[in-house]
Amino acid sequence: MFNIKFKVGVLLSAVVVSLSNCTYDVYNPDVCFQENVLPVFVSNCTMSKCHNATDREAGYDLSTYEGIMKGVTPKHPLRSSVYTTINGINPSMPPRGYPKLSAKDISYIKIWIRMGAENTANCGGGCDTINYTYNNRIKPFLTTWCVGCHSTANPGGGYDLSTYTGVVAAITNNRLMGTLQQAAGFSPMPKNAAKLSDCDINAVQKWITAGYLNN
Ligand code: HEC
Repeated sequence: MFNIKFKVGVLLSAVVVSLSNCTYDVYNPDVCFQENVLPVFVSNCTMSKCHNATDREAGYDLSTYEGIMKGVTPKHPLRSSVYTTINGINPSMPPRGYPKLSAKDISYIKIWIRMGAENTANCGGGCDTINYTYNNRIKPFLTTWCVGCHSTANPGGGYDLSTYTGVVAAITNNRLMGTLQQAAGFSPMPKNAAKLSDCDINAVQKWITAGYLNN
């Protein structure tokens, strides 16, 4: 009797382990539309002549939740054009000449669609008001929201925000905070998107006030 129970137990845990292995990729409650999915589209797809509110290439404006949802069938990534065009060995999007999406970005989009494609925010526990070092907070923030249009190969407006030196240039020219705050006299950034959260903008301001160290 004990032996049978034991065997069933082993079998069940093997099933649980293999199930959790295969669901890992498609379920992660920390994946959030506003923080993980929207920035991938804004930073990589909404450039001039592409999928923004004005140009709407192929009919798609990928700068808003509503616009992105036109290419989404909730719970079915393989029936969602915003996923099928970026997935696979030789994806059609982004087109040749633009940076490719990272595996992490692609998996965020897949997980989010699988989970129901809702307009979620703050899934990872809300605002971090303590950590604002360059490497742990500022660089990941700029990479997520800005580097698709401000890379070394494609520095929008002349600003390469993928390197510390490039970020410092935007600060010393006094252009970074005004664009983030979307203040008068500055081009509102991220281009084609709403103003970012106070949490993120304050983190950048704190880091600048503390001397914008490469820390
Ligand atoms: C979809 C593409 C795109 C995204 C995303 C984007 N930018 Fe830009 N950015 C541009 C382009 C193109 C220019 C130059 C034309 C202009 O000023 O609109 C520019 C200009 C700028 C300038 C100079 C503007 C000025 O008024 O002097 C700064 C600073 C800047 N971006 C910062 C950022 C930051 C910070 C982010 C992320 C939070 C960001 N950008 C995201 C495309 C983008």
